[in-house]
Amino acid sequence: MARYRIAWMPGDGIGVDVMKAARIVLDRVGLDADYVHADIGWEFWCQEGDALPERTCKILRETDCALFGAITSKPKEEAQAELVPALQAKGLSYRSPIVRLRQDFNLHTNLRPCKAYKGNPLNYRDDIDLVVFRENTEGLYAGVEFHPVPQALADVLGQHSPQWKRFGKVPLDEVAISTRIMTRGGCRSIVTRAFEHAKQRGYKKVTLVEKPNILRETGGLMTRVARAVAKDYPQIAFDEANVDAMCMWLIKNPNNYQVLVCENMFGDIISDLCGQLVGGLGFASSGNIGDKYAVFEPTHGSAPKYTGMDKVNPIATFLAAKLMLDWLGEADKATRLDGAIATVIAAGKARTYDMGGKSTTTEMALAVAAAL
Ligand code: NAI
Ligand code: MG
Repeated sequence: MARYRIAWMPGDGIGVDVMKAARIVLDRVGLDADYVHADIGWEFWCQEGDALPERTCKILRETDCALFGAITSKPKEEAQAELVPALQAKGLSYRSPIVRLRQDFNLHTNLRPCKAYKGNPLNYRDDIDLVVFRENTEGLYAGVEFHPVPQALADVLGQHSPQWKRFGKVPLDEVAISTRIMTRGGCRSIVTRAFEHAKQRGYKKVTLVEKPNILRETGGLMTRVARAVAKDYPQIAFDEANVDAMCMWLIKNPNNYQVLVCENMFGDIISDLCGQLVGGLGFASSGNIGDKYAVFEPTHGSAPKYTGMDKVNPIATFLAAKLMLDWLGEADKATRLDGAIATVIAAGKARTYDMGGKSTTTEMALAVAAAL
């Protein structure tokens, strides 16, 4: 029996291509694992009314961790229209399987390293080494949303929030509410993990990215909790930045920052910005990490126009595999994989289209495998 059982979820579109490439690399690095295919994505929504079928959740419960490619998702009306006729009008509604994975498996921490590899023609600068810690289950993406707004909720808001009075006369189907829910425990957890990472990896600074001057309650809670946690790590500097200002500072002086910690939506936005500084979607990977389980993924989507063309950059998926190796405790293999990726990028011979080259996805995988 292999040492690890890893759920393997290629998903849709280019997810299939990049995962095929990742297998070439993982096999070469010599990870002793069984890979268990698990269904996820648009096809399963259309055919079965569930983009994350229960059989997939079962596989996840029985494996050590998962590697995930990408999925297609579409707006509400299109999702309804593409259901097979037998499932139409059954009241099914599409929910993102990725958000569900994060919430149902309590993958509370989203880790997104953004490091510039020397020789990558897409680097914004060559001296960038950022790590974003994004809270992954709460905040504005917690999913507590209303449209139309129930009368009872409007009444309660009227009683408790002077600000709501401005909306009190708007018909309830003319207003939508998405809530930003943050718990002390969720804030403490993500900030503590950011500091622990900084401590383990030798980073000297953690920056909280929030907006407490406007989001006084949620942003305020996060800020108070972060200041308290920071006291436990006197050897690591702590600073705070507003999310809007941070978007400017990251462009102006990206090397002023090291570990960033954010609420769910702010982290989503900031991590895309950081990802672009080091090469964009072909280089952006993330780990969705819980106490006992984790799902690793490139952060790009299914890029339907490139489906099956063996064209896109698989490095983001290799970097996701590297994060997975780290999480499994296979530090040596993770370091070797990272070194091989760095070697191939520095040599500049294998380059996919986004890097200005002509290499295929498979050729990129073979180049990294050869450098291992
Ligand atoms: P996308 O990330 O799929 O692609 C946008 C563009 O980025 C592509 O057309 C391509 O030019 C480039 N690109 C993406 N991955 C690349 C790679 N590995 N190498 C080189 N270039 C790459 O985003 P888009 O087009 O907005 O969404 C397509 C579908 O993917 C939608 O259905 C969307 O809902 C879904 N999506 C899924 C995500 C996930 O599975 N995590 C994340 C984002 C979008
Ligand atoms: Mg995103």
